[in-house]
Amino acid sequence: MIKIDNIVLPDFPLLLAPMEDVSDPPFRVVCKDNGADLMYTEFISSEGLINDTAKCRKRLDIFDEERPVGIQIFGGDEGKLGMAATIVDMIKPDLLDINFGCPIKGIVSKGAGSGVLKDIDLMVRLTAACVKATNLPVTVKTRLGWDDHTKNIEEVAERLQDVGIKALAIHGRTRCQMYKGTADWELIAKVKNNPRIHIPIFGNGDIDSPQKALEYKDRYGVDGIMIGRAAIGYPWIFREVKHYIRTGELLPAPTLAERVDVCKRQLRKSLQWRGSESGVYAMRRHYISYLKGLPEFALFRKRLVSTDDPLEVEAVLDDLLIAYRGFEFEQTPIELINYHENCSL
Ligand SMILES: Cc1cc2nc3c(=O)[nH]c(=O)nc-3n(C[C@H](O)[C@H](O)[C@H](O)COP(=O)(O)O)c2cc1C
Repeated sequence: MIKIDNIVLPDFPLLLAPMEDVSDPPFRVVCKDNGADLMYTEFISSEGLINDTAKCRKRLDIFDEERPVGIQIFGGDEGKLGMAATIVDMIKPDLLDINFGCPIKGIVSKGAGSGVLKDIDLMVRLTAACVKATNLPVTVKTRLGWDDHTKNIEEVAERLQDVGIKALAIHGRTRCQMYKGTADWELIAKVKNNPRIHIPIFGNGDIDSPQKALEYKDRYGVDGIMIGRAAIGYPWIFREVKHYIRTGELLPAPTLAERVDVCKRQLRKSLQWRGSESGVYAMRRHYISYLKGLPEFALFRKRLVSTDDPLEVEAVLDDLLIAYRGFEFEQTPIELINYHENCSL
């Protein structure tokens, strides 16, 4: 078992990475159903929290069924980040996570996200301000460093541990890499193997199959793995990784019934959380990936995305079960998207 302060996780936990516009409560619920051991909200701006913007307030929503869950915040100002931590404290998530990894220019230019990687003293002060402001366990998610010349994650890990963080998730890229190249897990392993480090170290970056997850577990010795892009459109990745680690065998691809169940479950949560109209609307982008592989799906897809009536959506999903009875999905490789590919540094 792995402990983050008082949070007990199973051996080699699988974490759903925080992802803006992805890791909302409806999506988190289906990842939890499929084996995610710890999940996070989308990142939330500390300024937005203090100003109580509707977007930020909504992102604070967490539900008991998804616990343990962390709320992730970002910001480049100690006072404001500390205040945001106090607000998060009142929501009572299981932990508070600080984002020091986001590479997006608009955030970095304000000295937040991975922008903080250029000023480790500030990063330490920001973290200390959060630890002081909340009773929650504070964790950090970051990258290896700013660029190839400043891969200072080993120093960062020690200093953040010294000011009280309870776990560290490391995306094995620098900020300047954005999503280019491959994640460097050697350096993540170095942090893990540093005898000074006693907090859990979670590896993140490019896990896209059960085989890779097991290989990286064995090779790099991290305490657990955080999975991001591979879960988008495929929440079954968690159960597949777990099964493979436990048995050395690959699970068959999810059946049609399982896929329809996930669609319905996420739809219902989406309706509950967003309300009927936007709940139905928000689900539309998911059907194509959840049901990928069905031949001649276009007509059903059109029906799924052209109604505003949730009961009608469920009826179409039931029709699918009849129309494709006996259909067996093939296990296909997961493609990881290179986000921010055309983003200027
Ligand atoms: C669409 C998208 C949104 C993301 N949003 C966040 C975020 O809000 N907070 C964060 O710490 N990282 C965010 N990330 C980074 C992921 O958490 C993760 O570190 C990264 O995708 C690498 O892991 P992967 O290779 O498993 O996808 C985001 C990534 C993607 C693809």
